[in-house]
Amino acid sequence: MTSVLVYGAYGHTGRFVVAELRRRGFEPILSGRDAAKLPGGRPASVDDPASLDRALDGVAAVINCAGPFAATAVPVIEAAARAGVPYVDVAAEIEANLDTFALDIDTVVVPAMAFFGGLGDLLATAAMGDWTAADEIHVAYALSGWRPTAGTLAAGQVSRDRRDGRRVRFADGWLEHRDDALPTLEWTFPAPLGPQPVFGEFSMADVVTIPRHLRVPSVTSYMTVNAAKDLFAGGERDSAESFVVDVVVRSGGEERRAVARGQDIYAVSAPLAVEAVERILSGRTTAKGVASAGEIFDAADFLRALAPHISVELR
Ligand SMILES: NC(=O)c1ccc[n+]([C@@H]2O[C@H](COP(=O)([O-])OP(=O)(O)OC[C@H]3O[C@@H](n4cnc5c(N)ncnc54)[C@H](OP(=O)(O)O)[C@@H]3O)[C@@H](O)[C@H]2O)c1
Repeated sequence: MTSVLVYGAYGHTGRFVVAELRRRGFEPILSGRDAAKLPGGRPASVDDPASLDRALDGVAAVINCAGPFAATAVPVIEAAARAGVPYVDVAAEIEANLDTFALDIDTVVVPAMAFFGGLGDLLATAAMGDWTAADEIHVAYALSGWRPTAGTLAAGQVSRDRRDGRRVRFADGWLEHRDDALPTLEWTFPAPLGPQPVFGEFSMADVVTIPRHLRVPSVTSYMTVNAAKDLFAGGERDSAESFVVDVVVRSGGEERRAVARGQDIYAVSAPLAVEAVERILSGRTTAKGVASAGEIFDAADFLRALAPHISVELR
């Protein structure tokens, strides 16, 4: 049986990833920093490279679910490179994603392989179809609610600290930090949702995954206002939360669209990450080294494989 190390295995997202690996016939090897939460697993600390090397011994790949990734991504990637095995993570921290993309590594490394980052990138890449460049890409998120985990809140805080509390957007071909408030506008989602108030330039990992490989000077994310407000209101996770991700690509007055629908942004991150590992291990990749989802996978084919977890419509 092919074994895959899950770092951060006992976290909320890590548990979904472990279950998805089992469901697909992999042997998940559980790892993380707290030995007490890992009976029978392989405890390892990002401050102790030898412990990571021991954890990675004999595995075929590693999925890192331990965030904030500012602390975990580089040490786990370096250990994966020493072991010569591919690495996938679910990081939604723009700064950590940038650190990862800046690495010079020969083994396959795919950061942000989750709901935020990977999914938008795959949708944008599939929507582009035969276009080689676009004028603008918009990624609009409608979440029926957004009760975050402690890991999400901690990662958001680390990200904000790393950019001195400023926000970030990708416009005119550059990542730009800004001090002004987010614009509020209306985004018309496909029926039955229709027009919804959203925060514009609510930048998610899409602003770094997409421009990495698609020729486009402007990538803008949007988030429904109710979900953005939920994020800071606290409360228990609600797995019934549903989502619509509406991606619009414009080029020379023409428009193409890809829409994804599903439930529970944490749960669906597991099939995204595990599908990526399965494709990397079976050689279904189009790039080497560090790459984003849209860059390294056949985007339309990958999205089709996500059913029934995520349903996708390309227009
Ligand atoms: N891109 C996406 O769409 C997406 C989707 C899901 C999750 N995520 C991200 O994934 C991360 C985890 O989310 P979650 O929902 O699983 O949160 P969670 O339930 O709070 O779990 C966080 C996990 O990370 C571990 N961890 C934190 N700092 C660590 C460190 N320095 N060294 C080793 N382990 C560390 C924690 O271990 P301890 O208990 O020992 O602290 C725990 O296992 C967050 O950053 C979140 O933003 C992103």
